[in-house]
Amino acid sequence: MPYLVGIDVSTTAVKAVMIDLHGELVGSASTPLSLSTPLPGWSEQDPSDWWEATITSLRALLNRANITPEKIVSLGLTGQMHGAVSLDAKGDIIRPAILWNDARTATQCAEINDLVGADHLREITGNPALVGFQAPKILWLKEHEPENYAKVRHILLPKDYIRYRLSGELATDTSDAAGTLLLDLAKRAWSDEILSTLGIPRDWLPDIFEGPEVAGHVTSGAAQITGLAAGTPIVAGAGDNAAAAIGCGVVSEGTGLLSLGTSGVIFAPTDTLRIDPTGALHAFCHAVPEAYHLMGVILSAGGSLRWARDILSNVQSDTGDYGAFIEPAKRVAPGSEGLFFLPYLAGERTPHMDPAARGAWIGLSLAHRREHLVRAVLEGVAFALRDAWERMKMLGIAPPTLRIVGGGTKSAVWREIIAAVLDIPLQRLAIDKGAAFGAAILAGVGAGVYADVEESVARTVKLDDDLERPIPSLVEQYEGIYRKYASLYPALKASGVWKEG
Ligand code: XUL
Repeated sequence: MPYLVGIDVSTTAVKAVMIDLHGELVGSASTPLSLSTPLPGWSEQDPSDWWEATITSLRALLNRANITPEKIVSLGLTGQMHGAVSLDAKGDIIRPAILWNDARTATQCAEINDLVGADHLREITGNPALVGFQAPKILWLKEHEPENYAKVRHILLPKDYIRYRLSGELATDTSDAAGTLLLDLAKRAWSDEILSTLGIPRDWLPDIFEGPEVAGHVTSGAAQITGLAAGTPIVAGAGDNAAAAIGCGVVSEGTGLLSLGTSGVIFAPTDTLRIDPTGALHAFCHAVPEAYHLMGVILSAGGSLRWARDILSNVQSDTGDYGAFIEPAKRVAPGSEGLFFLPYLAGERTPHMDPAARGAWIGLSLAHRREHLVRAVLEGVAFALRDAWERMKMLGIAPPTLRIVGGGTKSAVWREIIAAVLDIPLQRLAIDKGAAFGAAILAGVGAGVYADVEESVARTVKLDDDLERPIPSLVEQYEGIYRKYASLYPALKASGVWKEG
């Protein structure tokens, strides 16, 4: 029996999974990563830590699965989007990667708007200049670290650095490339016009492939270090959200995905290119060749819960288990007794597109206990997701259910709150194997074991038959509370407390 492997370079860990051709999990391994915030609003990781963690995860995976590596017919890559990895002429890392949730580039975004024109930028790339995207990070490097900038010969996205280490190839896929702000979305190719306007040399960027296309092979050097077989094909893969969508069968218009990881995402495929005229929803290529998707992203979803847990409890080691932390919040009534939480800990993308926004608990009283604070976080994240969902509905995109993935969806109470706040049935996977699973499926398409992405998901993705339907009384209660939540951002923004200093 042949096997497929997927690797996910996420912000919190490098995960590797192995599946058989029916999508059954043969083994998995995960190696944690740490995040560095050298200054407020900054978010960085060292790409060599990703590579070390990839080696550890692959070795553990191959050990656990106990199969000969030659049986792995193909490998797929996915990972956190938008990050900028800068390499010199020798392929060495110049400085730590600047990540998707880094907010240092407001000035560079304004410059991009001036140079390209905000409307023209959206016409070509489908998106406004947002601080987390890759292009403004390149301009930031030029302005703030000219010595480093002078050394740059290659700019890669996070998962593509791992491809480079595994295969020596400089390549990316269309879904991840769409998050750079340098892609001509309709042509699914780098935009020469934007590159020349921003002064970014075309040859710094990798070649672009569709997600299931083979874009390299494991070198003998990498085979020795990782335990993989030399020559194993590596498909282009996808950004983590597109890969997660593939992994739960969200491949065509009319389906939708809600992902609750560090970020929170509502993702809907579109068969043809659709752009949100307000820019609040990202328009990107899907990992299904020729297809596109719209996506609302809130920057701190599970990230807010993790932060709250870290400051409110004395966590010694992160087991990733939030059960005991959330448990008391189940007994708090909806609305957390008048307490609201704004999850803008790292600024916000959808719908406010505001790097200066900040998080808050609002409405604290002497009666509130820790469990109220926790419930308010669960509710505040659900309200922020509702903002994204409202935007989708305004564009006429309203799948009848949302499939759910990500660590946060393990919590029954959080699922109950989200189903009620969005007033939509949620559907889980029989086993949530994450974005790495989607990357492994794409690998199968690339290896020719499935005819196309549609066939691959039909053969591998198994959904839980029971829908989690919204509880009508909760829907009603949350409607009024959401309205109040929605009035908080404009009020705080107008107050000037978040003005960038
Ligand atoms: C998507 C985004 C995040 C990261 C998280 O636009 O920025 O979902 O991909 O890994």
